Amino acid sequence: LFTAVEMAPRDPILGLNEQFAADPNPHKVNLGVGVYYDDNGKLPLLECVQAAEKQMMEAPKARGYLPIDGIAAYDSAVKGLVFGADSEPVKSGRVATIQALGGTGGLKVGADFLRKLKPAAKVLISDPSWENHRALFTQAGFTVETYPYYDAASRGVNFDGMLAALQATPAGTVVVLHACCHNPTGYDITPEQWDQVIAAVKARELVPFLDMAYQGFGQGIAEDGAVIGKFVAAGLTFFVSTSFSKSFSLYGERVGALSVLCDSKEEADRVLSQLKIMIRTNYSNPPIHGGTVVATVLNTPELRALWEKELGDMRLRIKQMRIALVEKLKAAGVKEDMGFITTQIGMFSYSGLTKDQMVRLRNEFGVYGTDTGRMCVAALNSKNIDYVCAAIAKVL
Ligand code: LMR
Repeated sequence: LFTAVEMAPRDPILGLNEQFAADPNPHKVNLGVGVYYDDNGKLPLLECVQAAEKQMMEAPKARGYLPIDGIAAYDSAVKGLVFGADSEPVKSGRVATIQALGGTGGLKVGADFLRKLKPAAKVLISDPSWENHRALFTQAGFTVETYPYYDAASRGVNFDGMLAALQATPAGTVVVLHACCHNPTGYDITPEQWDQVIAAVKARELVPFLDMAYQGFGQGIAEDGAVIGKFVAAGLTFFVSTSFSKSFSLYGERVGALSVLCDSKEEADRVLSQLKIMIRTNYSNPPIHGGTVVATVLNTPELRALWEKELGDMRLRIKQMRIALVEKLKAAGVKEDMGFITTQIGMFSYSGLTKDQMVRLRNEFGVYGTDTGRMCVAALNSKNIDYVCAAIAKVL
């Protein structure tokens, strides 16, 4: 039965974790996967999460099946966070939200639904994009193509190229857009440029699918989510996948969501009924723990305030690491101006290093980033940054 089964390549991101775990180098640093570590190199267990878990332990509950679309209090907290609790879409009931297995799960439920709804549509992702976007939409049955995004020469976004591509895209094409903290480049478009993208999406009747996995890691929760309001104001219907993996440091709990903004409550009810079929036939219904933690925090004012503070601290530390990285690379002898690192936002820096240089970093120094040159700045700390800078200086 399995004689013809080929060995698949390692996952370009999570596969690095396997390689990192097996690396005996005592100085090794994992800048591969997008995970935030504190200044001691530890994965944080947020205080707001601990407080919510304490509450849950004090009133233990039996674990029945959740509804297919998840915990109602979680779904409504997601709607509030993404669209605004008092926003017209939420108040009118025209958002269909499901609790998903992380942001990836939200994307996949949305992709499976879209594939049924628009089987002939193509999917456009940014060039480059999160490595899993292409794989995920391809697995869902779509042909995946790209629109220009990164401009290596100017170390920024090739916005003219992006816009021209969208303006030339056939109606009905699904366009995956990073709502904030573009992964992998760290370069976002400006609010004015978003307006132009939205105009093109509207004029060409494209299907926007916003991926918002890093809300709060750029400028702030509201600032990073502002683009959602722009799409709402433009009168568009769209998909948005969200994740609490990073913002709650709950990677292993798989807590994310998919929200679909529809034209009316009646339409949202029909869409939700279809999303539930996608879920039921994949994993039946979501797990309880992580969703309950997030719902408890978001729905309890003191815990919500604590979460915002803790998320703000993470955001600030990443920014400090960016500044330190630029200074220390210079001190390590790098001649090139690395100042672009501080104009990038979110967890990543698209370093401009070649695949060969990234492989050397890994093999000779135990410094792991993706082959595309992406490094997770959120995994740098005051103890490993000098070593990392010396290694980068050597391969440059
Ligand atoms: C990343 O880009 O490293 C993260 O989103 C983790 C993942 O699932 O790939």
